[in-house]
Amino acid sequence: MRTQVGIIGAGPAGLMLARLLRLAGIDSIIIENRSEEYIYNRIRAGLLEHWSADVLTEIGVGERMAREGVLHWGNYIGINGELHRLDFQKLVNKRVTIYGQQEVVKDLVARRRADGGDLLFEVDDVSVHDITSERPTIRFTHEGKAKEIACDFIAGCDGFHGICRPSFPEGVLKVFEREYPFGWVGILTESPPPDHELIYNYTDRGFALYTMRSMSVARLYLQCDHDDDIANWPDNRIWDELHTRLGGARELKEGKMLQKGITPMRSFVAEPMQYGRLFLAGDAAHIVPPTGAKGMNLAFADVVFMSRALSAFYKNKRTDLIENYSATCLRRVWKAQRFSWWMTQIMHRFPDETAFDHRRQLAELDYLTSSEAASTSLAEQYVGLPMD
Ligand code: FAD
Ligand code: DHB
Repeated sequence: MRTQVGIIGAGPAGLMLARLLRLAGIDSIIIENRSEEYIYNRIRAGLLEHWSADVLTEIGVGERMAREGVLHWGNYIGINGELHRLDFQKLVNKRVTIYGQQEVVKDLVARRRADGGDLLFEVDDVSVHDITSERPTIRFTHEGKAKEIACDFIAGCDGFHGICRPSFPEGVLKVFEREYPFGWVGILTESPPPDHELIYNYTDRGFALYTMRSMSVARLYLQCDHDDDIANWPDNRIWDELHTRLGGARELKEGKMLQKGITPMRSFVAEPMQYGRLFLAGDAAHIVPPTGAKGMNLAFADVVFMSRALSAFYKNKRTDLIENYSATCLRRVWKAQRFSWWMTQIMHRFPDETAFDHRRQLAELDYLTSSEAASTSLAEQYVGLPMD
């Protein structure tokens, strides 16, 4: 097989990249090691920054999002159950869109099929070769047969556990990492969220986030211990804790749990994001803790930069954008890292915090919710910094 760009991974990054390249007249083949059904059922992100939703619309995959997605022009910061609304419309005149990541993935796959582009599921034994040459290759097996794709470039969009980042030669990558001493218990439930907007709730018992997929399906998260096991969280313990942390500020209706699990919290960046003709995008290169909802949005930003660089190469033989791909992405990645770290550390209880730390944190939340300058800073980053 032969293509211009071989894309490894059919997550948000790989699928959006394929569409952006198609619009620029560039051929690609996507390979994915999971099944189509599996990627539709992986419940993850749910919040799109202002520009991300606009890009989905511009590239022709926004139709269902316009019908089923919900626009949010504000959210709530709770401090021990006392809610303070941040009015994004007034502060920065932008909004976010609530629309499930797996719905975005379905829309992008449907678009890919309509475009007639190759998309192979359930591939195995994926490896990349000759990445410093002008003709790198991807080898894998599909339906029991060994296959090879000869490409001009390889896009490593294969998530945190993929094979692309580990394929960089030893000594090339520098890794920056932080583990947090807690995780999140997350549930998806057939019940209305307590408010039509999100509530990020700091409490003395730990953080809780009340979000949603629609007004009849809530997505609820609770801070838990670092190595906690979901077996420690029977349904009634989850509901009790969600009620207690909300503290009567809103009514929380219970419903059938459709999904429950534990999300680890990590900050991670691998630099550089390119080596030879292999480019990383999304979770393959970086992970943010989920507070602030930056992961999927950053994956989209990377592939927008990558498609611009590849278009300039194919249209005008320009190599400068390709050479600067990593540096361009990392400027945005580090700002999102900083924001996600900051949101995480103001909203959670830390097991080793001192009494001073606790008072300082409460003062920070008080400042955030009472100062227009501080609220504007949060709102500007939360709705997504402008794309350069
Ligand atoms: P992925 O979605 O991980 O996709 C990578 C794809 O590559 C996968 O389909 C995988 O199966 C495939 N793959 C892996 N290895 C191989 C291989 N060897 N060969 C072929 N294919 C391979 N982000 C937000 O922006 N907003 C949120 O609200 C938000 N909430 C979150 C909540 C939770 C509970 C979690 C876990 C994450 C959340 N995130 C959020 C983060 C977001 O889900 C990720 O950042 C996003 O999925 C990254 O997209 P990606 O395409 O880079 O990687
Ligand atoms: C969601 C997840 C987040 O981490 C967040 O900050 C906002 C929303 C969600 O799953 O809806």
